[in-house]
Amino acid sequence: MKRISFYILLIISTLNACNHSVPQLGKDSMDDVIKSMTLEEKVHLVIGTGMAETSGDSAVIGSTQKLVPGAAGTTYPIPRLGIPAIVLADGPAGLRIDSIRDGDSSTYYCTHFPIGTLLASTWNQELVEEIGQSIGNEALEYGVDVLLAPALNIQRNPLCGRNFEYYSEDPLVSGKIAAAYVRGIQRNGVGTSLKHFAVNNQETNRMENDARVTPRALREIYLKGFEIAVKESSPRTVMSSYNYINGVYASENKELLSTLLRDEWGFKGAVMTDWFGGKDAIAQMLAGNDILQPGKVEQYNMIVEGVKSGKLDVSVLDRNVKRILELIIESPRFKEYNYSNKPDLKTHSIVTRQSATEGMILLKNDNGTLPLDENIKNIALFGCTSYDFIAGGTGSGNVNRAYTVSLLDGLKNAGYEVDESLKATYEEHIASENKKNALDSSGAFSRFMPVPRPTELVPSAGGLAGQMAKSDVALVTLGRTSGEFVDREISVFKLNKEEYEMLQSVCKTFHAAGKKVIVILNIGGVIETASWKNLPDAILIVWQPGQEGGNSVTDVLKGNVSPSGKLPMTFPDNLTDVASSANFPMDVKADIDVRNKADKRTSVKNVDYTQYEEDIFVGYRYFDSFGKQVSYPFGYGLSYTAFEYTNPKLKIDNGVYTISVDVKNTGKFVGKEVVQLYVSAPNNGKMDKPEKELKAFAKTGELKPNETVTVTLTVNVGDLASYDEEASAWVIDPGNYKFLIGASSRDIKSVLHLDVDAKIEKTRDILKLKTTMATLKK
Ligand code: BGC
Repeated sequence: MKRISFYILLIISTLNACNHSVPQLGKDSMDDVIKSMTLEEKVHLVIGTGMAETSGDSAVIGSTQKLVPGAAGTTYPIPRLGIPAIVLADGPAGLRIDSIRDGDSSTYYCTHFPIGTLLASTWNQELVEEIGQSIGNEALEYGVDVLLAPALNIQRNPLCGRNFEYYSEDPLVSGKIAAAYVRGIQRNGVGTSLKHFAVNNQETNRMENDARVTPRALREIYLKGFEIAVKESSPRTVMSSYNYINGVYASENKELLSTLLRDEWGFKGAVMTDWFGGKDAIAQMLAGNDILQPGKVEQYNMIVEGVKSGKLDVSVLDRNVKRILELIIESPRFKEYNYSNKPDLKTHSIVTRQSATEGMILLKNDNGTLPLDENIKNIALFGCTSYDFIAGGTGSGNVNRAYTVSLLDGLKNAGYEVDESLKATYEEHIASENKKNALDSSGAFSRFMPVPRPTELVPSAGGLAGQMAKSDVALVTLGRTSGEFVDREISVFKLNKEEYEMLQSVCKTFHAAGKKVIVILNIGGVIETASWKNLPDAILIVWQPGQEGGNSVTDVLKGNVSPSGKLPMTFPDNLTDVASSANFPMDVKADIDVRNKADKRTSVKNVDYTQYEEDIFVGYRYFDSFGKQVSYPFGYGLSYTAFEYTNPKLKIDNGVYTISVDVKNTGKFVGKEVVQLYVSAPNNGKMDKPEKELKAFAKTGELKPNETVTVTLTVNVGDLASYDEEASAWVIDPGNYKFLIGASSRDIKSVLHLDVDAKIEKTRDILKLKTTMATLKK
């Protein structure tokens, strides 16, 4: 029956198109198309069809949901006006759709590329653009019109559950990497959605939490990356976030979505809500949140009523409708792209394997432990994660891939011998742990949630001695998962007792025989390293490197590729050293329980509201300004080779600073180097300045031993400004500025000085704090 009514609709639309009595999208003017729409059609168009309950023609909606099974949502089709439904699907590490379909023997696997944090760790915009190109190609070939990515919220605290999807604690890295990703995806004709706009830095109570942030921290830290990405890559859509910002829902926030995003930054695309975000559909329409996803009956009724009662002027609805039509008209589906459902997964597996190596970060490498010596043949592989490798995080950032190459498989593929009895012991242990954990975490949402890691096996002294005798080197993999809906718990920040004991005993036994131990960190976010980093000989962060993970890691261990990733965030000594930790949900379950049981609702700190008291002092801006020791600083990462920086130069021309430096490979391996430019502003005005701020970065190509390249970086004068809340303006304090060229935030190779003149650029006075808040000062 449903099918029949759908075909009737199609026939009507074809007839309409033939006699051309009704305007058609793409053929007639958009204004004429909008004029021909009924109120009901307009309201349908500003609400998604993703959930079956949405009001509307159920045959039409049913058919759109089947367009690409597993996609997050679609828009509403209006065949009589030539308006097709377009398909929206996640996400940041690759396309997320169902890999199998009812009654269909074909498979629809997608490539799991490295997580966002690894992409940022490459500091390589061209590479990220290429990865984006491959992800976008899968979206195109599977019939998806808008990819719901990239995600670029600031990694404010190590415990945010979605940090793995995000890029960095620094807005410049976040913005530049996001822009590269968007350019790569959109080159395919597929749209993107910059998310989550904005200040969605915690998962705890994410749909109700009020982020209280000063306009200065908003402008300089939390919005800056979005500003860069909007201006440098023109994403087709932006996704508003769940949370409130200074008392107003992001999706209902006109100052955010219209005054700032469109009027100040010049964004021309459409804004969609995050899934079920916000409450007041009329406020969302007024704010310029063009489309509500996935769409609910109440929203439909609210908007229809709103227009009828005069609460919502129809011109506002028309404006939003127009932006959605503009999105549709650009889509592959509107252009009738004949998608194959057969993207080149083989080629993409090579892209992900190679690109993952470039975001791996060598934290420690005593006495050239890595790359593995050519004589090394037998490897003792410890840690459950070596056998049960983690490709990526969970929730909407997951990708339904065909396989994950474990470290075990990667090593074997490269010809290493791995002890089979140890493998059997681990596999048996992991199977029983997984069974236990699966029972503990059953429930409706469980497939979206991070699964607890198996408890580590602590090897016995006797067993270890045997392993050591049979092996040339020990690898110990430590793993962490995380994902949407929950923040990480304090307990997973540190190594637990079993992990520590395993590491300690492996190191003791192998070191006693003069054999090396290498730690592989298969993690999605920052963990504690200060208390154990002295134990192993080498430490390599491989993040969650996608489906080819084990092969990528082996490529680095073997020395096929020298690591060239650098940290896009700080690894602190302790969690409490992070300035935001005083105002971040830390194991707040008990507080929430008390709140929920109380008759009267009381606001719980860091759950119902979060005060961003550290203000602009996020990440290295805090540690460097307050002289704090860290375990590994922002921008840090070793290579198998070494680099020398000489001949630094700075010139200014037409409002642009050009900084150049010669970088020479002085070591024995081919390698790439990330050059970072920080600016240290004089602290002589009324605004507190961070000790230094990243203003530009670049990555060299592959440099052979003895090869030199001149790296050139540019900074616009305007980028030196800080945001002055009293003046509602970007203000450059005059004085002597230091331009610091570094290999990390704490490895500055040369300092150049320049006198800079005062400058002021007014902005709108928006997004103000509604409460008083004592912010951190230097
Ligand atoms: C997430 C978004 C995602 C959307 C659609 C939400 O839960 O926050 O990032 O794009 O779901 O899957």
